[in-house]
Amino acid sequence: MKYNSIDELLRNNQAWVTEKLALDPTYFQELSNGQTPPFLYIGCSDSRLALTRFTGTEPGELFVHRNIANQVSLTDINFLAVLEYAILHLGVEHIIVCGHYDCGGIKTALEGRTIGILDNWVNPIRELYLQKQEEIDALPTREERLNRLAEINVVAQVKNIYQTSIMRQVLYERKAPMVHGWVLDISTGLIKDLNVLTKQWQLHTCPLLLEFRLYAMLKNDSNFGI
Ligand code: CO
Repeated sequence: MKYNSIDELLRNNQAWVTEKLALDPTYFQELSNGQTPPFLYIGCSDSRLALTRFTGTEPGELFVHRNIANQVSLTDINFLAVLEYAILHLGVEHIIVCGHYDCGGIKTALEGRTIGILDNWVNPIRELYLQKQEEIDALPTREERLNRLAEINVVAQVKNIYQTSIMRQVLYERKAPMVHGWVLDISTGLIKDLNVLTKQWQLHTCPLLLEFRLYAMLKNDSNFGI
């Protein structure tokens, strides 16, 4: 693979701007008017996972949160701020959790390599592996075991989105975006939609709703008294 030098990055930028302006002289003026992206993309930090390239999307279409092994952590204030902003202020229609095969975070979780704080970060994935150990260990090759854990991880992170307070709030208000679980196969460039069923997580009654209902009962407010 050919890598650009740091100077080339700036030259590439100028060339790209020239190219864009040749096609549409108002492109950057329009871009600077603000953003209303339809998609929130939660992906891995892996340098190969620039989803814009793989989906042919333009600046302004994907709101992005990336971390190692595309995790939805309920205690990560960075992620929770991104999620809340995307849902409440940007009004995204779709949330995409996109994992990938050949993921270093997944390898660390599955094989328990000790390389520092990354071990702590991927521990929830290690837990997923331990839950599904029998199924994963039965697969014949290392690659298949890693790929399966990558898929299981995506499903778990989709589920985690439904555990967040903001998602429960907008589900209650029937304004929730759709959530999708994808895996990108770097060896083919193709995205696989895992078609994760989310209905079962949308129906959970959460403590927040119980509090709403209790409050409504006390206030005798029929809007909440369901
Ligand atoms: Co990765």
